[in-house]
Amino acid sequence: MIEGLDALEREGLASLATAGDAEALERWRIEFVGGSGRVKQALGALKDVPKPDKPGYGKRANEVKQSLDAAFEERRAHLAATGRRAAGPLVDTTLPGIVPGVGRSHIITRVRNELCAVFARMGFEVAQGPELEDDEHNFVKLNIPDSHPAREPTDNFYVEERGDASRPRMLRSQTSTVQIRVLEQAISEGWGPPVKVVSPGRVYRPDTVDATHSFMFHQIEGLYVAPRVTMVELKTTLFRFARVYFGPDAEVRLRPSFFPFTEPSAEFDMKIRLRPDQPARWVELGGCGMVDPAVFRGVGLDPEQWTGFAFGFGIERIAMGKYAIPDIRMLYENDLRFLTQL
Ligand code: DAH
Repeated sequence: MIEGLDALEREGLASLATAGDAEALERWRIEFVGGSGRVKQALGALKDVPKPDKPGYGKRANEVKQSLDAAFEERRAHLAATGRRAAGPLVDTTLPGIVPGVGRSHIITRVRNELCAVFARMGFEVAQGPELEDDEHNFVKLNIPDSHPAREPTDNFYVEERGDASRPRMLRSQTSTVQIRVLEQAISEGWGPPVKVVSPGRVYRPDTVDATHSFMFHQIEGLYVAPRVTMVELKTTLFRFARVYFGPDAEVRLRPSFFPFTEPSAEFDMKIRLRPDQPARWVELGGCGMVDPAVFRGVGLDPEQWTGFAFGFGIERIAMGKYAIPDIRMLYENDLRFLTQL
């Protein structure tokens, strides 16, 4: 009777090897290892085996069952992996392929990187500062006193009430904060001044959104501090930047102005054509000036020893000027029909 078990195993394995698809496999399963299949019958026949042969027969019958069960699982996995379920290939290799979409940086990111690269060639390093600031860095140390109208709660995104011991925190309204942070860091870490940095980043103001305003936008701040810095260097730096970035015909001008943290101060304008059907007109790109002595004193530097210039430009304005974008909102809507043109 044991020979019958050996034969069953041989036949089962041989037949399994020819099961080439899911249906054949299922037919095999029912015949051999199913609930009333041949293995089951062989196990059931144990009761008719003469008593002395029972242990040997039982052992061998179990081996055959395990051997065929395992072979079945292996065959099933193999067929699943090789995917031979239906006739013919599943993939039509004659169809044109799907071209994967290739992403790119947003135009603001690209302009920001380009600006940093132009200033890097003029010796400026890139610095970063936090967007969540305290009013000490956003105002006090920039020589903007408590009484100044720019500090009104309606003109800023304060996130805290003023505490007794602490200055209230806010979303920074200008990247000029980084002037103070860089000077403080340079002094405490002992590597400067001199410092020569640009710092791009987001700023926040509760402005009503229109074609030229947004509650969040980007600025790039510049700061150069060294002995005997002159306004000529400021003007040279800015005019050179404009001609490198916008081309040799860029029309730029400085216009006298006022900022609490620079003296003298100026506004930096450029002639820009935002629409092809309109004449170019003067657009203010940002402010600049010579670092006010009060700023130096505020960080513990001697204004007799240190001088410097600073500037802060709107990155959106620069991008709009460079790419003739008529409405700032186009920069934030993330409409791919717009973005992929740039
Ligand atoms: N922080 C000013 C603003 O947001 C711009 C500015 C003016 C920055 C003069 C400067 C500067 O560094 O010197 O309006």
